[in-house]
Amino acid sequence: MFVGIDLGTSALKAVLVDGAQQVLGSSTQPLRVSTPHTGWSEQAPQDWWAALMGAMDALVAAHPREMAGVTGMGLSGQQHGAVLLDGHGEVLRPCILWNDERAARECAVFERRFPRSRQVCGTIAMPGFTAPKLIWVARHEPDIFHATRHVLLPKAWLRYRLSGEMLEDMSDASGSLWLDVGQRQWSREALDATGLAPANMPALVEGTERAGWLDQDLARRWGMKTRPVIAGSAGDNAAGAVGLGAVGAGASFLSLGTSGVVWVTTDRFRPHPDGGVHAFCHTVPRTWHQMGVTLSAASSLAWWARTAGMSIADLLAELPAAVERPSPVVFLPYLSGDRTPHNDADIRGVFAGLSHDTTRADMTQAVLEGVAFSFRDVVDVLAQAGSAITQADVIGGGSRSALWVSILSTVTGLSLHRLAHGEVDGAFGAARLARIAVSGESVTAVCLPPQRKETVAPDPALGDAYHIQQARYRALYPAMRTAFPPCAP
Ligand code: XUL
Repeated sequence: MFVGIDLGTSALKAVLVDGAQQVLGSSTQPLRVSTPHTGWSEQAPQDWWAALMGAMDALVAAHPREMAGVTGMGLSGQQHGAVLLDGHGEVLRPCILWNDERAARECAVFERRFPRSRQVCGTIAMPGFTAPKLIWVARHEPDIFHATRHVLLPKAWLRYRLSGEMLEDMSDASGSLWLDVGQRQWSREALDATGLAPANMPALVEGTERAGWLDQDLARRWGMKTRPVIAGSAGDNAAGAVGLGAVGAGASFLSLGTSGVVWVTTDRFRPHPDGGVHAFCHTVPRTWHQMGVTLSAASSLAWWARTAGMSIADLLAELPAAVERPSPVVFLPYLSGDRTPHNDADIRGVFAGLSHDTTRADMTQAVLEGVAFSFRDVVDVLAQAGSAITQADVIGGGSRSALWVSILSTVTGLSLHRLAHGEVDGAFGAARLARIAVSGESVTAVCLPPQRKETVAPDPALGDAYHIQQARYRALYPAMRTAFPPCAP
């Protein structure tokens, strides 16, 4: 038996998976994001811990016999967040999350101090990543910076609480901007550029390796007969890739979650920083990936539902089963800036083309389409980076909407596979990593492809109309950039 835990942004999920890779049970505990200032995004690590305890206790209550036989645990986590610890391992401040934009100015500082960073770290420095956040803390909260002895990414902090070990896997470490991604080791130059040293970093492991054991007291609390092994684990996108079996070069998927991700597995480090492509390590050894990120994907729809005062389900119920034409309204989903392709923390979203006839349904459709246009931009820059794709699996909460997936398919020109089981996600991938760490089986033997429910192909009848709409969407970015210039630092 294996447990996979996915620390997401809106929820923490734990799954119990048996030896036949069947999901026997799961528990999801909601998480809240705090926004003390516009563009800031924080969570208290203690809330993650409470959610983890809640999820594990719920699994034990529902499946006591199976939980007693757990031999491995794996973790998947939202990437890039900075958990700062003092010399006693105590948390110094709330975690600054992946979609926090406060460190935009500090990115330039990092790149000035470390001019080779794009080639070594596989990406342009962006405020979502961890290193610029630390430069921000050094400038604005110097006492906290000086007290910082250890910096952990979110799921590495959960591991620390679970096992007492400070360890980081390659996929998540890549997103810190402190990793020499090609060499799979910490980069002293990148750490220097942030005022940190290798001693501030956890040791590195591959995601499939054994990386400690669950604490004795916790194992006893959850009725486990032996202390489970904890796998090296993964950042959430790499864990999703493992869950989907996207472990061989060329395998691709789209994640329509809080953020939107287009992922392509590569057999070597292929940096192509232009256009905001990230070239990072995969969590499996000797493997890398390229990906691009839309910061506000399903979170754009969640925002619109909150704003409209309706549930997402009720909003979607106002739309037809299949669209006949693009919405007359165009939406830019830049609610917390944009990463790929614009790398612009200050840009904001817009609804354009409103009239007295505009309905709420037009606006909901525009939100679905705006996110799809943003995905199209990402797919196009990945093609320029050498990772052209024609088809992909689609995961994440948004993929439950057949309508959204069909719009996404027509707009991106990709054939998209919807999965038979929604549980193929980061938590499931983390459970697979746990299994590999325990059994020593090969990655390809365990990471089998998922069962697909249907393949959605682009609708040729709508291709031209969406082509015109994509051009309108693209014209709005420079217009917004001019109308809302960045605030002075
Ligand atoms: C990836 C990224 C997001 C988070 C979401 O670079 O920032 O996908 O990992 O949890």
